[in-house]
Amino acid sequence: MLSLRRTVLSSALLFALQLLPSTDANSATNTLAAEPTATVVQALTQQNQDALTYANYTEVSVSHVELALAIDFKQNRLSGEATLDLAWHKPGKQLILDTRDLTITSVTALNSTVKWQSLPFTLAKADAVKGAALTIKLADEDTQKVKIKYHTSNNPSGIQWLTPEQTQGKQLPFMFSQSQAIHARSWIPLQDTPAVRQTYSATITADKAITVVMSADRKTLSSTQTQFTMPQAIPAYLIAIAAGHLKFSPLDNISGIWAEPEILDKANKEFADTPEMIKIAAKRYGDYRWGRYDLLILPPSFPFGGMENPRLSFITPTVIAGDKSLVSLIAHELAHSWSGNLVTNATWRDLWLNEGFTTYVENRIMEDLYGRDRALMEQTIGYSELLAELAELTPGDSVLHIDLGKRSPDEAFSGVPYVKGQLFLIFLEQKFGRERFDAFVKSYFNHFAFQSITTAQFREYLSLNLLNKYPNVVSEAEVDTWIEGQGLPSFLVPPNSHAFDDIDAQRQTWLDGKLSASELKTSTWTVHQWLRFINEMPRVNLDQAKLAELNKAFHFTGTGNSEIAFAWYSLALDNGYYAVLPALKQHLTHIGRMRLIVPLYQKLASTDQYDWAKSVYLKARSGYHPQTQASLDMMFADKPLEHEHSH
Ligand code: BES
Ligand code: ZN
Repeated sequence: MLSLRRTVLSSALLFALQLLPSTDANSATNTLAAEPTATVVQALTQQNQDALTYANYTEVSVSHVELALAIDFKQNRLSGEATLDLAWHKPGKQLILDTRDLTITSVTALNSTVKWQSLPFTLAKADAVKGAALTIKLADEDTQKVKIKYHTSNNPSGIQWLTPEQTQGKQLPFMFSQSQAIHARSWIPLQDTPAVRQTYSATITADKAITVVMSADRKTLSSTQTQFTMPQAIPAYLIAIAAGHLKFSPLDNISGIWAEPEILDKANKEFADTPEMIKIAAKRYGDYRWGRYDLLILPPSFPFGGMENPRLSFITPTVIAGDKSLVSLIAHELAHSWSGNLVTNATWRDLWLNEGFTTYVENRIMEDLYGRDRALMEQTIGYSELLAELAELTPGDSVLHIDLGKRSPDEAFSGVPYVKGQLFLIFLEQKFGRERFDAFVKSYFNHFAFQSITTAQFREYLSLNLLNKYPNVVSEAEVDTWIEGQGLPSFLVPPNSHAFDDIDAQRQTWLDGKLSASELKTSTWTVHQWLRFINEMPRVNLDQAKLAELNKAFHFTGTGNSEIAFAWYSLALDNGYYAVLPALKQHLTHIGRMRLIVPLYQKLASTDQYDWAKSVYLKARSGYHPQTQASLDMMFADKPLEHEHSH
């Protein structure tokens, strides 16, 4: 259920990118095939290193991050200190960390006489994609702890600060982080690469009316202080924080919902099946290893559908439809507890290992819980969306093991790692049979548990434990086509739900004028069937009168289901049906989830509605997340935009 979120690089950004060193860490070849059990840092060769970090992590890696931060809603700022524990792999006296827009006030290290000693540091000139390297000169080899005092900028890429008016309750401000892919560095100085795993702890201070949550075990210390502990080693992009007027409502003894009180009950009902999802996933893929699994419902400006922060998935409120029709998102974020959080992509080129496996596992959970029909409908919709997206992508970006070049992972984000990755795994499942494939996936999660791995390491494991174990079922060449090839393999058997046959037939009957919209037999249609009905409508030259007839019969404009709204407004804009504009304006100004708004802005911006779209954007902009702002700023960058602060 993804569609395109492609943006165009501004010339300023392109210019900045040319200043990057030209080392190419994106070669497709690898040399680690012989060492399947090696730990990440040992196994990473030059070619497999993360090109998006400045950290010298093959020499020294951070093993624990201890945060002591104050949340200041007056200045919209986090300030305090990060203390990093270091593990040395080679003798050295230099530590390079990632930062973006951070102000560093001091660096100290614990020396051999167990005293904190002040250290010289330099903050390099910032790069548009990677931020600024913080280089710390250590006095001693084998330094164990470094403490950095710092504060964040007024618009860090990884945090959104909301005014009380932008929340449900309108009384208290709100803030939340979104660290994936490389935005943790905008609120913590650290080694911002998924190749490095660390435990973390935090003591957070905030006003007593504010409740703070993180992706960690939570303990209230006092009315203004909360303590957090994450005892399992995780990559930096999974460190997460949110604060605001939050209340908790349990689902069972290991899961529950954090949300603003105004939406807590609705969320609790919508996501009541979460405990069952956890049981289903754990039964098939091995124990749930993170203790609790809670959901945090964010304000509507949350830029994603969901984010798999460990112990606490961050969830957009736009999936609260009232009928559980969009809960595959919960299955998805939960599935990341195995694919992503337990076994992690070592670089952002390997994102498909996270998202492809997760989309596959998500769909298996949906099948177990709601039946094969629903799961197959969701697969079929995802496949159609992928086809539409592939038509727009450059061939290079249709490769699972993508070459990011000098781009940020945000720039290259698409449905390819999700749906093509899922289709690859479904292909393997069908070839080897569920019994063998399920056993393989479970053993893969256990084998690489708490490790970060590259595509090469996955392939090695696949060859040993599936291809060679059951010979002559799938060839290395076929695997190669899936992982390194462009587009979709010629031997793919696309998913095809027959629950859509009747929908397609009725749509055609209506298009042919044989029945009016109100005469169609729609009373049993599910949300997915409605999505199919809308999504496969002609994208050009559908009469205004026909669209008006549809809307009169089915009341799509202003619908409370955000996916149907998105599908309908997309159809309307493709056919120039501008009667939707007032309702569309509501949609665009009340939701900040990029997948539901950026493609609509894109359609508007490429037509005579450009000025209208830009004026809506200028009004909505201050309510959007910095990452949403960044991608829309580029779309409307013809003349300078007027806004309070730029990102
Ligand atoms: N981890 C992703 C979100 C993400 C990916 C953020 C890459 C930044 C960089 C999350 O699990 C996700 O995939 N969310 C989707 C959910 C959908 C596919 C069910 C979303 O936000 O739409
Ligand atoms: Zn995901």
